Amino acid sequence: MIIPVFGKMEKAPNNTTVGLGRGASIAVKAAAASDTISGKPGESLSVWTEGCTVIFVGVGDKEKLTHKGARDAGAKCLAKLSKDLGTKIVVRFTTGWKTANMAAFAEGMILRDYSFDKYQKKDEDGQDKGEWSLECQAHDRHLEALGAAVTKAGSIATGVHLARDLANEPANRLYPDEYGRRALEWAEGKENVEVEVWDYARLQKEGMQGVIAVGKGSIRKPCMVFFRLNPDTQEGEQVPCIVGKGITFDTGGISIKPSQGMWDMKYDMHGSATVFGLFQALWATGYEGRVNGITCMAENMPSAEAYRPGDVIDTYSGKTIEIFSTDAEGRNVLSDGLWKAAELDPSYIVDLATLTGACVVALGHEASGLWSNDDKLRDRIHEAGNAVDELAWPMPLLPAFEKEMTSSKFADVRNGGKGRWGGANTAAAFLKQFVQEREGEDGEKSQIPWAHLDIAGTAWGADTNACVAHGGTGVHVRTLHLLITQD
Ligand code: BES
Ligand code: MN
Ligand code: ZN
Repeated sequence: MIIPVFGKMEKAPNNTTVGLGRGASIAVKAAAASDTISGKPGESLSVWTEGCTVIFVGVGDKEKLTHKGARDAGAKCLAKLSKDLGTKIVVRFTTGWKTANMAAFAEGMILRDYSFDKYQKKDEDGQDKGEWSLECQAHDRHLEALGAAVTKAGSIATGVHLARDLANEPANRLYPDEYGRRALEWAEGKENVEVEVWDYARLQKEGMQGVIAVGKGSIRKPCMVFFRLNPDTQEGEQVPCIVGKGITFDTGGISIKPSQGMWDMKYDMHGSATVFGLFQALWATGYEGRVNGITCMAENMPSAEAYRPGDVIDTYSGKTIEIFSTDAEGRNVLSDGLWKAAELDPSYIVDLATLTGACVVALGHEASGLWSNDDKLRDRIHEAGNAVDELAWPMPLLPAFEKEMTSSKFADVRNGGKGRWGGANTAAAFLKQFVQEREGEDGEKSQIPWAHLDIAGTAWGADTNACVAHGGTGVHVRTLHLLITQD
């Protein structure tokens, strides 16, 4: 039994010992009143009683507790629990807790309850200890809202965990066609979802030369995956389209990367993992609106068939790209994905990509970079990110960067800047060249609202993220779920 307690606790809060035996109650009350716990964040105290271990967890000042504070406390608490003591968790919220903070605490526990051990032998004692079960106890007046919030958090978390699963898969096991196979398998038996995979032959037929150029150097050929939720509703209405970079491994290609750290490039498909996880989250929460998703899947390898620096490639848009670095491959595949997205006449387009090391230099692991051609869309994503504590930080989409990226002497667009400065911004300016215009109600042509999230720093390696132990984070499944469902 977990009892989260606020700072400056002097005695056990009301209801702490309801249901415990007399002896146990005395021991638990004495422990709570002692100096060993006062309720500071990070403090905890376990008291053994027969049949139930009571664990006090400090969350700090009641007035200062934020959703993030509550969520992180729940996550850290779960991380410390051992299934050796049983798998039944009861969280008992005592007086003073707000519904939203209780829900956040439970959400933190649920998000943190994740591991990726499918390729490891089971423990020596061989026993599967089973799944945790979670019961939240609170005053009656909270129960209905709390129950609904925790159920919803659990449904969204299935999408976050799916995104992490995909991200954590090594590249020898998850390559473009395998991602497509999993998407088709996921759609099977779900009445309101549709998945379509364009294989290598289809990409050639359609002229998706951006994706093809990047993927053709690998024996694992590229593909594009289309996700459609509720395809038969909102006919003729504009709905969101989410696009993901899905490089299942990024060696850099002929512009090969140094070997140090290259293993992390299995995560270079996290944009596509987020798209897949988002559709799971929307489906699991019963979202009734129509949504489109597109993922651009390729493995970036050096080989006799690989594309090279200096190449001028065609793209689906009709624009040509001069390749300066085969390692700037994410933008090449996204050029086709973004152009295609516009054909679906979307209300807005959001792309997600582990696009640049420069973004990690700028923002570390604390925030994704956020660029947009539309102030309202940028604000909405920024606010959705803040609301779920997946920060998306506004970055500049300056005309000078666009000018730089369209200054190729041999093609329409160049895939690298003139130098390395502002590398995350030049990448965003490149992508903007592939967002189509359309006629508005006023008869004026303007670009479709579009936003780009560079998740290079937030997709993995975010050690300060209490809701993740290690590996892929599933970042922005929750942000985009909120963005889309609040429409
Ligand atoms: N996938 C990488 C970006 C990346 C690097 C993400 C490190 C996370 C950690 C991307 O494809 C890439 O290689 N970008 C180049 C672009 C450059 C060649 C213009 C980069 O950032 O160095
Ligand atoms: Mn690269
Ligand atoms: Zn990459």
